[in-house]
Amino acid sequence: MQPLSRRNALLLGGLGVAGTAVGAAGLAWTLTSRTAPVTGAALTHPAELRSANGTLALELEAARGRMQLAGRPATALGYNGGSPGPTLRLRAGDVLRVRLLNRLAEPTNLHVHGLHVSPQGNGDNVFVTVAPGASFDYEYGLPADHPPGVYWYHPHHHGMVAEQIFGGLFGAIVVEDADPIPAAMDRVLMVSDTDLDAAGYVRSVSQTERMAGREGGLVLVNGQSNPLLSALPGQRERWRLVNACVARYLRLQLDGQSLQLLGMDSGRYPSPVPVEEVLMAPGNRADLLVTTAAGESVLRAAYYDRGSMPGMMGRGSAGRDTTDPSRGVPLATLQVAGEPAAGPAGLPPRPAPADLRQVPVAARRQFLLAAGMNRGPMGGGGAGMMAFTINGREFDAARTDTTVAAGSVEEWTVINTSPMDHPFHLHVWPMQLVSVNGESPGSPAWQDVVNVPANGRVTVRTAFKDFTGKSAYHCHILDHEDLGMMGVIAVR
Ligand code: C2O
Ligand code: CU
Ligand code: CU
Repeated sequence: MQPLSRRNALLLGGLGVAGTAVGAAGLAWTLTSRTAPVTGAALTHPAELRSANGTLALELEAARGRMQLAGRPATALGYNGGSPGPTLRLRAGDVLRVRLLNRLAEPTNLHVHGLHVSPQGNGDNVFVTVAPGASFDYEYGLPADHPPGVYWYHPHHHGMVAEQIFGGLFGAIVVEDADPIPAAMDRVLMVSDTDLDAAGYVRSVSQTERMAGREGGLVLVNGQSNPLLSALPGQRERWRLVNACVARYLRLQLDGQSLQLLGMDSGRYPSPVPVEEVLMAPGNRADLLVTTAAGESVLRAAYYDRGSMPGMMGRGSAGRDTTDPSRGVPLATLQVAGEPAAGPAGLPPRPAPADLRQVPVAARRQFLLAAGMNRGPMGGGGAGMMAFTINGREFDAARTDTTVAAGSVEEWTVINTSPMDHPFHLHVWPMQLVSVNGESPGSPAWQDVVNVPANGRVTVRTAFKDFTGKSAYHCHILDHEDLGMMGVIAVR
């Protein structure tokens, strides 16, 4: 295998090269002290709901309401009154039943991002519409060999996904390890971004920001602004990170601590990979082990250039790019002090990940991601809007774009013809990276969101096993998805 370039190592999630040092908080924040985010509060976690005897049943009420965000009263969208919604803890083989109650003024629905479950009927069916005031009973059966890891749930009603997630609708799902990984702490860290006005309302965004992919200036972890995490030295912590931002990439660094990446999304590397930083595209999760060393470290999102369309201004709040290139955005502060704890126990052996690279493929396909000026009548965006297309077409729920034979292995090459990155996401069936801009990962890397660099290409392989039915693939810059960069897949 060839050594990876720094950029592709970043794109693949792992990195053995020291990141550039970045300074402290770089947020261009102009609110008064009355409305400025409260930083430094102890980290909190959403309520956790655990399955028992193979089942977890719950109600999720999606509603607009008053809640705490960044330590201040805000009016935002939440599940069961909060953002993030409750964390759902499951085991392989479980059945998850969710009654979704829509108390919003507009339609919504529910998607369990990354779970390998049926997309049919009342399963992970993104074609369901739950009208205002209505409810829907979802049921998800996890296979007995479902991979452990961190997943998440969020709305998936086409045209409103970005708005509802920016408003606060998301929550985490953990599928527990059959053989637990010894850790002093198991933290779920959901990173999101939004913007609140002086009255605490989520602001609306411009068409230009939607085309670029909106970024909020308020970057939150579990709904808090730069919360404090405390630990003893010499401990192993497990951080399950979720990038729930609509469009913001997170190039995460935690200087002074030693980091090992277990895998991205539902994937597990053959052994944990020591990393200096982790790049998470929107929708990605990172399963990270942190071995603590005394001192204070800031978890920060360093500047990442995801490109932009020619002539497009910044993409952050009110058109600014809120990330100061030299400093990054602080997400959380880890304070490590006290008597050193006993060293962490060894890691349990892990099964070797599947590797499809030598397997015969039934089909090879190309997917062209394009963002261009909207000229013809095809475009849904109207005059002055760009069209966001896959293979030249905008999303149409009534059309099947890709038909795959159940049980087959396919190789897909996703080609990005635009000067900005697009994170490509496939529902239900995870993808194994074959190459990113021609470079291959050494050991198997499985993800459900794969970043396709500006003017670049990514090749993946997928085994369409266990489930049949209709589902979707799309850009996980959710504004792009809403603008049409999504296709329908039918496996039969
Ligand atoms: Cu996270 Cu189709 O979505
Ligand atoms: Cu998904
Ligand atoms: Cu995109």
